[in-house]
Amino acid sequence: MKKFMKRFAKKWCAALSCACVLSAASVTLAEEREHKPLKWWQTTSVYQIYPRSFADTTGDGFGDIPGIIRHLDYLRRLGAGAIWLTPVYPSPMVDNGYDISDYTAIDPLYGTMEDFDRLVAEAKKRDIRIVMDLVFNHSSDKNAWFQESKKSRTNPKADWYIWRDAKPDGSEPTNWRSIFGDSAWTWCEERGQYYLHTFAPQQPDLNWENPEVRRALYDAAIFWLDKGVGGFRIDAIPYIKKPAFRDGVPDGEDGLVSIHAMTANTPGILAFLHEFKKEVFAGRDIFTVGEANGVQPKDLPRWVGEDGVFDMVFEFGHMNLSLKNGEIWCRPTEWKLTELKAAINATQEATRENGWCPVFFENHDQPRCVDHFFPEGADREKAAKAMATILLTLRGTPFIYEGQELGFSNVAWPSIGDYNDISSRGQYEIALNEGFSPKEAMKFVHFFSRDNARTPMQWNTGDNAGFTTGKPWLPVHDDYAVQNGEVEMWDENSVFSWYRQLVEFRRSHPALRAGSYQELLPNDEQIFAFARTVSSYQLVTVVNFSLEPAKIPEEIIAGKTLVMDSEGPGETAILRPLEARIYQAVR
Ligand code: GLC
Repeated sequence: MKKFMKRFAKKWCAALSCACVLSAASVTLAEEREHKPLKWWQTTSVYQIYPRSFADTTGDGFGDIPGIIRHLDYLRRLGAGAIWLTPVYPSPMVDNGYDISDYTAIDPLYGTMEDFDRLVAEAKKRDIRIVMDLVFNHSSDKNAWFQESKKSRTNPKADWYIWRDAKPDGSEPTNWRSIFGDSAWTWCEERGQYYLHTFAPQQPDLNWENPEVRRALYDAAIFWLDKGVGGFRIDAIPYIKKPAFRDGVPDGEDGLVSIHAMTANTPGILAFLHEFKKEVFAGRDIFTVGEANGVQPKDLPRWVGEDGVFDMVFEFGHMNLSLKNGEIWCRPTEWKLTELKAAINATQEATRENGWCPVFFENHDQPRCVDHFFPEGADREKAAKAMATILLTLRGTPFIYEGQELGFSNVAWPSIGDYNDISSRGQYEIALNEGFSPKEAMKFVHFFSRDNARTPMQWNTGDNAGFTTGKPWLPVHDDYAVQNGEVEMWDENSVFSWYRQLVEFRRSHPALRAGSYQELLPNDEQIFAFARTVSSYQLVTVVNFSLEPAKIPEEIIAGKTLVMDSEGPGETAILRPLEARIYQAVR
């Protein structure tokens, strides 16, 4: 019976998609007439790889570049036109590569420069471009630049980082707390001064006020452009401009204030970024996407579009709903579906006329989306399909984070010692300082830890899910026997198959690429709905985010044809829990 239902559902979906392909073809011309031609990165999706956790070919328990090459066909099948590679540069790995000791080389953990060149070439054969992660707010303390800078107050790189004298009482120059916890200043005996670090003490902030520093960073980016990369994700960019160094009002028991609140998006930052654009990106067939936590939708017109500084920015309004009070994990806030929709709507509206946005619900710093955005007890597979439907039908470039396409979920390891993520350890300490018990502190870690997104990729049912023949650097999620690439590839009802159908659907529907966006039902606490329209052709996405059935208001579906349904045939006007549908209308 189950088998029959599966076959039936498959045929039904195929028939529906096929009907759409025919009607969609006729609007292609209209689309071209009405819109500026889209760039390559606006009509594809980007797949983010955390190389350490993707595929290991040497048996050392860490993923590597040859492992990525091995799986390029998998990514092609998923329709990815670009791979955002989180840092693969030499690094002491205090923050897993976001602490770079050499900007123009490859860490031996991941392979060689020849492996990298082969990756670019093999990806190109499959029409996939490699996008590098530029970590330019800070370097590693082991970087030769910092090693020299810290030696004295007079050496040639003395001013390459942010050095300040102690306060008269010997304490830190300001009361800022770094993003990973504790003071953002570390004392350096050699110089007899403090240096600033927005993140860990091993990640000193570079001094962007110094033109030599900026030139060195631009040259590093150009090095990778010369290797043929297709673009850049620019890390932690809102922190590069520092304001006056003054104490802030403490926001925690430790007497410190979040550095994010004090420094993110400081006026004057755009002048740096315009120069960066002019010197490095302008006139090239690449894309740039800035990680811009702290940049608000209202700021987007100055950050993206023709006169902006990047092609896209990751704006975090929808990702930070649980952390409205700052980035301290032990103060999570409740939020409602209407707030999630409003946040997404704000980004969409801000980029409606001028600009473009990435659409994303996961990355290597975030909980898995099935745990992040749905009520406790939600069926993970249904939730993963629901989110995929939003991801691939909103306006913008979809970013899929490794494992998201298989429906990966969070882990919950018993003790803080089981966690590798530096921010998990810092936040655990903050929670204890704030008076929470170790058990309560672990609950915050379980929800927010970045390790949730960093467990090894699950390729098959073999040892360590096929990720490595050795001991994986982080344990494999214990659900790997059911959630893995091989099993899901052959199951037409899997999350992976749903992704593939959506990718295909997006490819054949201009309304999803170039169409306008319109929010529907903004006050509904169960249904997330929006329309995408090009010429007289419209697609409407309707998703039930709740665990109860939801009635679809008549006006949303009247006169429209159902073309995709994550749950197969059901009642016309009722959405089952977590069900996602797409309707089509020709007006
Ligand atoms: C960004 C990265 C994160 C890293 C931090 C410091 O937020 O995404 O992983 O820890 O910057 O570089």
